[in-house]
Amino acid sequence: MEFENKRVLTGVKPTGRPHLGNYYGAMKPAIELANNSPESLLFIADYHTLITVHDAQTMRQLALETAACWLASGVDPNKTHIYRQSDVPEIFEMTWILNCFTPKGLMNRAHAYKAKVSSNESDGKSDLDAGVSMGLFSYPVLMAADILTFNADIVPVGPDQVQHLEIARDIAHKINQTYSEVLKLPEFRLATPVAVPGIDGRKMSKSYNNHVPLFEDSKKMRKKIMKITTDSTPPEAPKDPKNSIIMDLYKVVATPEEVKAMETLYLKGVSWGEAKQILFECVDHQFKDQTNKFNELMAAPAEIESILQEGAHRARALAQPILKELKKTVGICG
Ligand code: TRP
Repeated sequence: MEFENKRVLTGVKPTGRPHLGNYYGAMKPAIELANNSPESLLFIADYHTLITVHDAQTMRQLALETAACWLASGVDPNKTHIYRQSDVPEIFEMTWILNCFTPKGLMNRAHAYKAKVSSNESDGKSDLDAGVSMGLFSYPVLMAADILTFNADIVPVGPDQVQHLEIARDIAHKINQTYSEVLKLPEFRLATPVAVPGIDGRKMSKSYNNHVPLFEDSKKMRKKIMKITTDSTPPEAPKDPKNSIIMDLYKVVATPEEVKAMETLYLKGVSWGEAKQILFECVDHQFKDQTNKFNELMAAPAEIESILQEGAHRARALAQPILKELKKTVGICG
């Protein structure tokens, strides 16, 4: 088995309910990987979100919603250790130790920081570090701690996180070189990209507002699907299944047989409205059970909390010997 004896770890920034692109591009592959590995950890990176979200109620809500989405989507808490980052204090002791081995220049090159500096530059600001907190600047160190505290072998990430994994490896290597091989160098795993177009044909993204929201009221989802950009081909005219956003989205959610049936309809001549309705019903059906489960969990936040506490308990038991060994190695405790 590919993941024999491998520990897989995934961190999720709490951003609330996902859209179709998040689900197929990141959540589904990460959950499959977790379910197929002998040991998996999945955590809600709430301290990462504290960098940008400074409203207590929003923070609490985002963490709960995000946990509920992942649980409703198939994370099995009996198998995967699911926890909130902030419930594992070992990560923060680790963060400081890592800070002491992280060259500042390495952080200067981290892409989130560089992006902020260049936007300050193009806005003509005299202070290029305007709006940069130490949290933003040292984000990659916290992320390295998330991973190294657990001696994770494999970290599934999106392409934007590869640099952070490389930074985590650099820091671990520096410590290993200074003392002895005390930390494991994690490997990243890129999910096979799934092309999920937004309703206007660009990449699906909340920032373009072209996304199909999940775990929401069906009406909201339908409204978005009905807004998919189409041309003015008359309803009864045959249509090209290879050149249609509706079809591209349908291919992401429907079975191969359903896709074939839709292609036949296109060639015969289906109205755009009908095609959108078929797409909507398919998405709605695919996510019905998950959405019900999500709503049940959100109605019982104490249950989510107890799952997260149990996960944190198990995660801490894994983290403690690793941290202890590192502290001994650097001479911090007896
Ligand atoms: N930085 C990741 C993101 O924005 C989230 C994250 C935090 C993470 N810590 C992690 C991912 C550790 C993998 C491992 O998506």
